[in-house]
Amino acid sequence: MIEIDDLTVQFGGVRGLSELTARLPEPVTGLVGPNGAGKTTLINVLSGFVRPTTGRVGIDGQDLSDIAIHKRAAFGIRRTFQNEQVVENLTAADNIHAILDNVPTDGQPRAALIAQALEFVGLAAKGNVLGRDLNAYQRRMLEIARAMVGRPRLIMMDEPGAGLAQHESEHLRDVIRQLHGHCGAQVLLVDHDVDLISATCTATLVLDFGSAIAYGATASVLAEPKVRAAYLGVLEDAT
Ligand SMILES: Nc1ncnc2c1ncn2[C@@H]1O[C@H](COP(=O)(O)OP(=O)(O)OP(=O)(O)O)[C@@H](O)[C@H]1O
Ligand SMILES: [Mg+2]
Repeated sequence: MIEIDDLTVQFGGVRGLSELTARLPEPVTGLVGPNGAGKTTLINVLSGFVRPTTGRVGIDGQDLSDIAIHKRAAFGIRRTFQNEQVVENLTAADNIHAILDNVPTDGQPRAALIAQALEFVGLAAKGNVLGRDLNAYQRRMLEIARAMVGRPRLIMMDEPGAGLAQHESEHLRDVIRQLHGHCGAQVLLVDHDVDLISATCTATLVLDFGSAIAYGATASVLAEPKVRAAYLGVLEDAT
């Protein structure tokens, strides 16, 4: 479970997050909101890239402020990036291998873990291809493969669906649906694609101006007038 208590992040005069409190227990949770709502900032706080100005975040009862940023991957906190960060001059397999130095592998052979992860995301045939020679979609899938090895507890994805062709979106959706069952990690999914969120997330948290404006079952949350007003740019009925 993701635990967020009274979390504020101030960037100079700009508030990234404002007194946010939430409990997110579902295996696959959506995180949505308009541009600048604070979604990436929340992922950055959970992964340690940004320090809270006030407040705290925790996972499964463990306060994350006690875990240094370089130890968070070993603890099980993983992410993909809004601008993906595949290493260009390493092969797909070696991109995953580099992570395995820093996470628990339970004595399993690395080659097997890498092969399994590549297979899961549909890159079984691409293990020897350099990062720079993968297309945008394949790089995104490689980031997911990298996140799922070595006992992850929480995998956060920052707009994995952006700019994909329809058949790629469909494959991404299947991968996200199976991810929790496959590796046991809780998944937090940020995306502007409401269809992707609806198809994969049992619960959804909606942010606006750094605060939670709704949380609950995805379909009912997305139907709320205040969510539609904030997120979809639909004006609330004045009646
Ligand atoms: N490093 C930073 N320095 C200054 N301001 C920042 C920084 N990171 C984020 N912000 C500001 O904090 C607010 C929240 O930004 P954030 O990137 O978390 O939004 P987001 O919900 O991920 O938006 P998008 O959907 O566009 O990715 C915005 O006003 C943004 O400009
Ligand atoms: Mg963002």
